[in-house]
Amino acid sequence: MPDIQTQFSAPFHYIRMGSGPALVLLHGFPENSTLWRNIWSGLGEHFTLLIPDLPGCGSSVATGDVSMETMAQCIKELLDHEGIAKAVIAGHSMGGYLAFAIADLYPEYVHGLSIIHSMPCADDDEKKSNRLKASEVIRKGAKEAFVRQMVPNLFDPGFANDHPDVVSGLIDSSLNISAAAMIAFYKAMIERPDREHVLAPAAYPVQWIIGKQDGIMPYDKILQHCYKANINFVSLYDHCGHMSMLETPAKLQEDLLHYTKYCYQLS
Ligand code: MLT
Repeated sequence: MPDIQTQFSAPFHYIRMGSGPALVLLHGFPENSTLWRNIWSGLGEHFTLLIPDLPGCGSSVATGDVSMETMAQCIKELLDHEGIAKAVIAGHSMGGYLAFAIADLYPEYVHGLSIIHSMPCADDDEKKSNRLKASEVIRKGAKEAFVRQMVPNLFDPGFANDHPDVVSGLIDSSLNISAAAMIAFYKAMIERPDREHVLAPAAYPVQWIIGKQDGIMPYDKILQHCYKANINFVSLYDHCGHMSMLETPAKLQEDLLHYTKYCYQLS
């Protein structure tokens, strides 16, 4: 489980496992690399997985300079460090924003883009204002109350009701992230530009994983983007919210496997 030095001048931790062509798994907010634990063994049988902890999450050190662009450079440096010229990049939610930044800034490294409960567009004014309010709440010391209220809403209500252990596990891991790191991620999300323009010229297929009960990224909004690349793999999961890797991991694993094999032209 290596650490590398990046432009943050702070240890940037990632998990490397499996063998075969490369698949990068990027977690969202406020999570860490272990988010992918239900599917990493199955995917690692076919691919070399690179699974970072974003700055301030898991074992990666927090830094003041977090933006989609600096994190994209970090992932590029990780690929360089591993000697990987091209990878399929899969990103969940905020990790999807990061995947779009990598596709925009370092397209030569991208062999495929799997967008899991995420969208290419920038925040609208209402979303920015909500993020600023959340940042203020966290800054004033109410991080724990904020996380306890926010995390259950990431799940399909039926799933949350039947699996309180999964919800409380995610609350516990989210509470490990510092208030400063959460505020830095909100700032990075507010400042990220629209990146819809990467879709039309993409030289690779784009995968869209969508939860029908996702209250954070409504499925009808995501579907508006699913025709913009030349080849789109679209999966809409019923009884799934924002967290398919925890709610419907078998389906997600199967779809990611199928898509990534297609990208690498494996049977
Ligand atoms: C995430 O799951 O990464 C966040 O909910 C994304 C967002 O707030 O836009």
